[in-house]
Amino acid sequence: MSIRTDIPDRDHPRAVLDAEGVRDAYRRWAGVYDLVFGGVSAHGRRRAVEEVNRLPGTRVLEVGVGTGLALPRYRPEKRVVGIDLSRDMLEKAAARVREERLSQVVGLSEMNAEHMAFADDSFDIAVAMFTASVVPNAKVLFAEMSRVVRPGGHLLFVNHFAAEAGLRWWVERSMAPLSRLLGWHPDFALSDLLDPQAVRVEAMEPCQPAGIFTLVRVRNQPAAALALAAE
Ligand SMILES: C[S@@+](CC[C@H](N)C(=O)[O-])C[C@H]1O[C@@H](n2cnc3c(N)ncnc32)[C@H](O)[C@@H]1O
Repeated sequence: MSIRTDIPDRDHPRAVLDAEGVRDAYRRWAGVYDLVFGGVSAHGRRRAVEEVNRLPGTRVLEVGVGTGLALPRYRPEKRVVGIDLSRDMLEKAAARVREERLSQVVGLSEMNAEHMAFADDSFDIAVAMFTASVVPNAKVLFAEMSRVVRPGGHLLFVNHFAAEAGLRWWVERSMAPLSRLLGWHPDFALSDLLDPQAVRVEAMEPCQPAGIFTLVRVRNQPAAALALAAE
């Protein structure tokens, strides 16, 4: 499968800087990502795709598709488009699609999830696995995912969310300056992504190992997401 390039010419300055940081980090990660991170994240990824497969609608967007570890798990009737900022990660995903003949994957694009090229209501479901804590502004990511999914569709996230107190809170806060090196924000909290009072969170499920990741399922209400991003 070939990879489309859909990065806008002009971005706001903070995103351009941070997008470069993401590309640098995942250029380093691409060759070893599956080995280092594939195992520990497997349960959350499997649960997210099981949910996607169970939900109504065939038009699925996977945001931050990475090396495409989730792609073989989508049911054949789903029509999956994957986007990512990192060409190095996308090349791995494209090789997987080719080698495993994954006909449910209908497109892979190099695209910034904070400024997507898709029209409103293009998808029934959007899913971001281990990606919300990587993008520069997760509320903008949420608003964009909400925009491109039809009202009443679903947004799913699997992520590690930082503790709000205690030793884990302290460790995660201390690691925050390493974000650029790690390629993700260790101190990322659920409130950085969404306000559970303002959006319809339908489910929150701890995932193995030891509940360090959480699967969040939201019923899409684009107006609420836009208001949050504007805060
Ligand atoms: C931790 S990896 C997760 C990959 C995959 N979802 C998985 O389950 O293994 C995060 C991915 O998000 C991508 N990413 C980060 N910021 C992005 C953005 N603004 N737009 C699109 N992709 C982004 C990175 O390039 C990387 O491939």
